[in-house]
Amino acid sequence: MKNTFGTSVSVTLFGESHGQAIGAVIDGLAPGIKIDFEYIASKLALRKPYGKISTSRQEDDEFSIISGVHNGVTTGTPVCIIIQNAGQHSSDYTGTRGPARPGHADFTAYEKYHGYEDYRGGGHFSGRITAALVAAGAIAMYALGQKGINVGTHISYLGGISDSEIGASEEEITKNIEALSEKRFAVIDDAAGDSMQKLIEEIAEGGDSIGGVLETAVTGIPAGVGEPWFDTLEGVLAHALFSIPGIKGVQFGGGFDLADAKGSEYNDAFYMDGDKVKTKTNNNGGINGGISNGMPIIVKTAVKPTPSIFKKQETVDIVEGCDTTFKVKGRHDPAIIHRARVVADSVVALALCDMLALRYGTDWIAEK
Ligand SMILES: Cc1cc2nc3c(=O)[nH]c(=O)nc-3n(C[C@H](O)[C@H](O)[C@H](O)COP(=O)(O)O)c2cc1C
Repeated sequence: MKNTFGTSVSVTLFGESHGQAIGAVIDGLAPGIKIDFEYIASKLALRKPYGKISTSRQEDDEFSIISGVHNGVTTGTPVCIIIQNAGQHSSDYTGTRGPARPGHADFTAYEKYHGYEDYRGGGHFSGRITAALVAAGAIAMYALGQKGINVGTHISYLGGISDSEIGASEEEITKNIEALSEKRFAVIDDAAGDSMQKLIEEIAEGGDSIGGVLETAVTGIPAGVGEPWFDTLEGVLAHALFSIPGIKGVQFGGGFDLADAKGSEYNDAFYMDGDKVKTKTNNNGGINGGISNGMPIIVKTAVKPTPSIFKKQETVDIVEGCDTTFKVKGRHDPAIIHRARVVADSVVALALCDMLALRYGTDWIAEK
């Protein structure tokens, strides 16, 4: 019953949606990493709900770091971040113990924890917990940024609407990552973003929800990071990405498009760019043999439609053990994709910090 990710740099999550607080403990971080409180707050702000496209639950997301930081830098001992819960309405969950929300974790949590789980608002399975992940990820993202490694995610597809490509060259992708870093609705093409938001609003008005596809890119990652078996870079990143609630698919580079490609089309031809080995295309998403090849890492994640919808659904009363119908109460995101995007950045950054520490040693990330 573990809630910990990572080998050299690990992150442990705790808390429940309607409990007193949520938080994260990051262990194995190098001493001397600068902690930029404003930067962490800015990343938390990107995860906050807003407008008709999000839940109406409002949280300040004020955080405190109660250990592992002194004089504005990490000490090398566990960093514990705590975010108080303030906006919970537990009364929304009165009388909802029995019916399991289809698509949510109510039933599986009941099976695993024998009914002892705090089910209010999804408890430990709530998207709320991702605030702690974002705070932890912001520390990792900031540290990676200091080493010239940039992570960024955009909403690449939603309801038949596609965003522009994130870019082909390292320079173009880095520029797009920079532009995306400030955007609440993370798209490269704002007109496509407006259409996507309008569609989410329409879907929400009908009491339904919608999913989509995120694309995350990493630039500046040196070649040689990752293990050939089991702890492949794809494997570790996918592990991290699948930890985000609501993610149901992960693909690297061309991913499932390879089904229609020939080797002559899919192979990424190598060439020398000065003294650096590069590839002309990046169908392999920057990874060969489980190890980074120095090209940008490109990974897409499929985000499912939010399970809690305001329509009558067939389900089972898990306490009574009988069929029933059920209509969700409470406040829910009609789409989670625009909020999940910074969570994707965060888990990718944490996973990379772990893999880089395994490759170069713990202290590398803080070295000037
Ligand atoms: C940022 C974020 C917000 C979420 N908000 C909601 C929500 O309001 N209502 C809901 O039913 N699910 C929400 N989810 C998704 C559920 O947490 C998730 O679907 C559930 O835990 C079941 O896990 P699974 O979808 O990975 O199987 C959210 C997820 C994220 C990442």
